Amino acid sequence: MLEIQGLKKSFQGLEILKGVDLTIEKGDVDVILGESGSGKTTLLRCIDFLEKADEGKISIDGITADFHTASQKKQVEIRRKMSFVFQNYGLFANKTALENVMLGLTAVRGVAKAEAKERAEEAIKKVGLLDRADHYPSQLSGGQQQRIGIARAIVTDPDIILMDEPTASLDPGLVGEVLHTIGELAAGGTTMLIVTHEIPFAQSIATNMLFMNQGVIIEKTPTKEFFEHPRREETRQFLMKSISDYSFVI
Ligand SMILES: Nc1ncnc2c1ncn2[C@@H]1O[C@H](COP(=O)(O)OP(=O)(O)OP(=O)(O)O)[C@@H](O)[C@H]1O
Ligand SMILES: [Mg+2]
Repeated sequence: MLEIQGLKKSFQGLEILKGVDLTIEKGDVDVILGESGSGKTTLLRCIDFLEKADEGKISIDGITADFHTASQKKQVEIRRKMSFVFQNYGLFANKTALENVMLGLTAVRGVAKAEAKERAEEAIKKVGLLDRADHYPSQLSGGQQQRIGIARAIVTDPDIILMDEPTASLDPGLVGEVLHTIGELAAGGTTMLIVTHEIPFAQSIATNMLFMNQGVIIEKTPTKEFFEHPRREETRQFLMKSISDYSFVI
């Protein structure tokens, strides 16, 4: 469904992504773990062309492109197949929840307003916030803002949703509702690539676990096996540390 090959990216001469290969099958929820600074955010941003990679290929739903040389048109074509959920929600403060969700349809895809409104309401209903559709972001809790961020991601019916630490900006009490919403998407068959530090959540939702180490995905393993018998020593070390941080039991 989504295939990335040989993705490289440097910042100021320092190579951050050193040749990432990754494949996600339709309907899978793959979760990326890795040390801070290992390149997880950079990877997702390169996949979505928010950052221009130096080398590598992407293939999604039959469309193939070279990250570095893809035309603007090709980039738009590929980006339309994906949605991004940001750590900091990324909602427009001067637009209501409904308007925020409609925007990707009206402004980017030229969908007529009446149809966009109907689809946006449907998406907002899915995240359980229809009664808040007229609220501005400042009138919503962090958890609610992120659920609107998720509604905005699903409204375009993408092939895959990329999420970068979707709960990292939330107060601990608000994490649960967002994880619940993501869990419902997963149960509904939405294909997702998620970066998170929420290990118990990853265990409950992920099809496969990916471990990123110093700019490379060094393992991709079915979730149960990943936590019971990680293939790489680096992964084992990371999990050992995380176990004490998260006090979870394998
Ligand atoms: N725009 C940029 N300019 C220069 N260096 C950058 C830029 N973006 C990221 N980096 C560097 O790339 C490396 C990887 O950053 P990245 O944000 O991808 O890590 P991460 O795995 O997402 O970490 P975290 O778990 O803390 O979010 C870091 O060393 C970071 O300083
Ligand atoms: Mg990051």
